[in-house]
Amino acid sequence: MSEQTWDAVDRYLSDLLVPPDAALEQAAADSRAAGLPDIAVTPAQGRLLELLARMCGATRILEIGTLGGYSTIWLARALPDGGSLTTLEYEPRHAEVARANIARAGLADRVEVRVGAALDTLPDLAGPYDLVFLDADKDNYPNYLAQILRLSAPGTMLVADNVVRNGAVLDADHPDPRVLGVRAFLDRVAAEPRLSATAVQTVGTKGYDGFLLARVTA
Ligand code: SAH
Ligand code: DHB
Ligand code: MG
Repeated sequence: MSEQTWDAVDRYLSDLLVPPDAALEQAAADSRAAGLPDIAVTPAQGRLLELLARMCGATRILEIGTLGGYSTIWLARALPDGGSLTTLEYEPRHAEVARANIARAGLADRVEVRVGAALDTLPDLAGPYDLVFLDADKDNYPNYLAQILRLSAPGTMLVADNVVRNGAVLDADHPDPRVLGVRAFLDRVAAEPRLSATAVQTVGTKGYDGFLLARVTA
């Protein structure tokens, strides 16, 4: 099967299962118009994030890596009244686009966008969070893990994007520090007794990649 088939099947499944949504489509369109990179989760992946948040009954969600707020909107939609989501973004311009997209989606009351390098803003946060979505700079994934564990409690769910990167994750000598960061992250997850984890490989509109899924057990 070619990448063209992955893309066609992704579109088929999304069109079938993920109803059109004006706020999400506007968020994607405005992010593109503002020149943000086209690296948000796909509609089908966004729905997966929403389902996971609902399945774990999340009332407090932490996202690391906001971009234009596309995944943020999916996750925040899963929150019950009184729930909250904090999302961390380094680029002020991304955060500005995200805030507008989140407000238009009617979610400004439950979402806080914090601007800064996540390694600087994470220490100010207090947990526990019920769900953490990690999707920022891949070279820092291993450094984020300690903070995520600090902000977790038994039952916290961790989802990390981009752990396969077209199979590059297999290469221990890869020249790209982002690949080495993901490998170091996976090694730490594997060695962490508080985590029960798996990874799911994905193909589709964004090519071949994968999610790490983990649950904090203690
Ligand atoms: N979760 C988004 C996509 C995030 S893309 C979605 O699916 O819609 C990764 C984002 O992480 C980019 O916006 C990038 O600016 C941000 N980022 C990169 N380095 C960062 C850092 N050190 N701290 C916080 N955010 C960072
Ligand atoms: C990139 C980042 C992402 O989070 C993603 O899902 C895809 C690509 C990137 O930086 O290239
Ligand atoms: Mg990603």
